[in-house]
Amino acid sequence: MTYDDIDVTRPAERVCHIRINRPEVRNALRTQTLTEIADALAVAAADETVGAVVISGDSKAFAAGADIREMASLGAVGVWRSGRPAQWQRIADFEKPLIGAVNGYCLGGGCELALACDLLIAGEDAVFGQPEIKLGILPGAGGTQRLIRAVGKAFAMQMVLSGMRVDAATAERRGLVAETVPADKALPRALEVAADIAGNAPLALAAAKKALNQAFETPLSAGLDFERQCLALLSASEDRNEGIAAFLEKRKPVFRGR
Ligand code: HXC
Repeated sequence: MTYDDIDVTRPAERVCHIRINRPEVRNALRTQTLTEIADALAVAAADETVGAVVISGDSKAFAAGADIREMASLGAVGVWRSGRPAQWQRIADFEKPLIGAVNGYCLGGGCELALACDLLIAGEDAVFGQPEIKLGILPGAGGTQRLIRAVGKAFAMQMVLSGMRVDAATAERRGLVAETVPADKALPRALEVAADIAGNAPLALAAAKKALNQAFETPLSAGLDFERQCLALLSASEDRNEGIAAFLEKRKPVFRGR
């Protein structure tokens, strides 16, 4: 598949890297960009040789938000019918681990894309924020819902109601990012984390991701029930037998996603 707004590479075994490539607009996410990201994830989802995906921007910006010029041309009906929500949903539905490597500006829809990732590795230069309020709108791609789940009510309220910017150290302290590293190490570290994760059993990864996300969707009892069902299901997989056999035989497991 060919893309205009993203580059897709395979930098390591079982790892796919999607780089947003619109540097002239700080990687602003026009509808086409979102569609291409969702398309690339669909390809990665169907490819058994991909175990995890890293998404990044460049050194200046992960993504500076929705493309404000495109937004300006859309009225209410245009926003409604833009197809953007469907693309966001496709991204959220991606079943494999999705790791964000964040450098520079990560604002608005860019921050929402980061929040849609399973975990974030941030460079010390990363700047997070939901500045939509300053445009007379609100985060409309999951920002109000995912941010509050990530950082809690007080800080999410402060971020969304003020539009303030948050540096990487604060983002890490607040639980928005998993690790902060020197700016030039964010992508290498994210690729390293992805490669480590991607070596695990694919079915277990998918089940674990789904079960963890269920914590945001269900009461504890239902979440625990889902977790138990996943465990029972995985116990029927070949990879589970392989994992246990490899441990007992003191060798590295060879997982096949079966
Ligand atoms: C379109 C953008 C853009 C954006 C930057 N550019 N962000 N174009 N949409 N979100 C463009 C600028 O217009 C400019 O184009 C070029 O990128 C470089 O930007 P500068 O401002 O000159 O660069 P810099 O001084 O480095 O400042 C970077 C920045 C600033 C801090 C990221 O550009 C900025 O504040 N951008 C807007 C951030 C924002 O409000 N995001 C939220 C968007 S709303 P020219 O042609 O002048 O070179 C949103 C809603 C989501 O995301 C809700 C879902 C529907």
